[in-house]
Amino acid sequence: MFDIQEIRSQFSILDQKVNGKPLVYLDNAATSQKPDSVLEVWNKYYTEINANVHRGIHTLSQLATEEMELSRRKIQKFINAEHDFEVIFTKGTTEGINLIAYILTQKLKKDDEIIISYLEHHSNIVPWQMLCERTGAKLRVIPMDENGILQLDQFEKFLNEKTKVVSVNQVSNALGIINPIEEIIAKTRKNTNAYIVIDGAQSAPHFTLDVQKMDCDFFVFSGHKMYAPMGTGILYGKQQILEDLPPFHGGGEMIATCSFDGTTYAGLPFKYEAGTPNVGGNIALGAAVDFILKVGQENIQNHENALLEYAQRQLLELEGIKIYGEKANRTGVVSFNLDGVGIALDVGMILDKLGVAVRTGHHCTQPIMDFFNIAGTVRASFAVYNTFSEIDALIEGVKKAQRMLS
Ligand code: ALA
Repeated sequence: MFDIQEIRSQFSILDQKVNGKPLVYLDNAATSQKPDSVLEVWNKYYTEINANVHRGIHTLSQLATEEMELSRRKIQKFINAEHDFEVIFTKGTTEGINLIAYILTQKLKKDDEIIISYLEHHSNIVPWQMLCERTGAKLRVIPMDENGILQLDQFEKFLNEKTKVVSVNQVSNALGIINPIEEIIAKTRKNTNAYIVIDGAQSAPHFTLDVQKMDCDFFVFSGHKMYAPMGTGILYGKQQILEDLPPFHGGGEMIATCSFDGTTYAGLPFKYEAGTPNVGGNIALGAAVDFILKVGQENIQNHENALLEYAQRQLLELEGIKIYGEKANRTGVVSFNLDGVGIALDVGMILDKLGVAVRTGHHCTQPIMDFFNIAGTVRASFAVYNTFSEIDALIEGVKKAQRMLS
């Protein structure tokens, strides 16, 4: 049974007024709120078992280690990785992609090619540009059409023996477009030996995941967009690939032996987890996975799709609303502007006065904004706790913005 009021009651933060109005939180693609069960686990860690992991024989250290490793196994199941040691804790998607781009440095040479798409977040653009600077490789970008749909015929033409990396997101953060990663992965496998990286930052909160079926080499996502604390994230990599590639950060925990003459590295996953991890956050990420599974991924998806469909229909009933990616297959996000009136920022400020939280601006995707020749959009993004009456509040706010700005 999907009981929205019961779900909402688990998010104490939602029960407040902002600017004198009930909070309508529609900025979930930036970060989601955290249920009480996640906060309780976080709090319990710091009030009862705070200790460093994998380092102490004492009871608290062992407890902390057990809890964090239990969380790793929950995440392994959540993404259906073959082994728990293929699950590396990071501080988020950005760190995950930077890590991958860094450890691939020795694998690329001048004139090799890295393929990304037009729909990427800056965190799936800049680390590859930096890798190109280090190696002399070139970046190629899968184009999109005016609906934000990637042009796979063009992508296929890019694939050749120089293609060393293909890195795309499963869902666009700015527009919510679901990319055809199955086709992208299949075409890449058929034509190249490239490493395949999937940015799951905007899909992990919404979809059932199966990295083995997907057959990607790396899959990265953030905890804070899927009901877990900030500063948490996951890098999944295939065992053989992670074993073959060098470490990222050097430091404690990632060594097998260390002397002034040299160092040998620890096995997976510790080779990629130098330094003290975010233990409380990583344990709470496991609790966030429990929350998602308890509500049910199918329920979450159905509810969010219904919200999206309702929001889009209502927006289109208004005059002069442009929705970006309107005709594309999307999840969780509606990104729009008011034709000819004001800028996205003004609309966002008016909505905020009404208690409605949305993100405005370029959403860390300036190339998409350049494509549409705009400075930014108003982006409403949904989570499992949002309601249809919250969408009504958004629509009332947009109507008010239209009146005030025209
Ligand atoms: N990447 C996050 C967003 O899209 C922060 O808002």
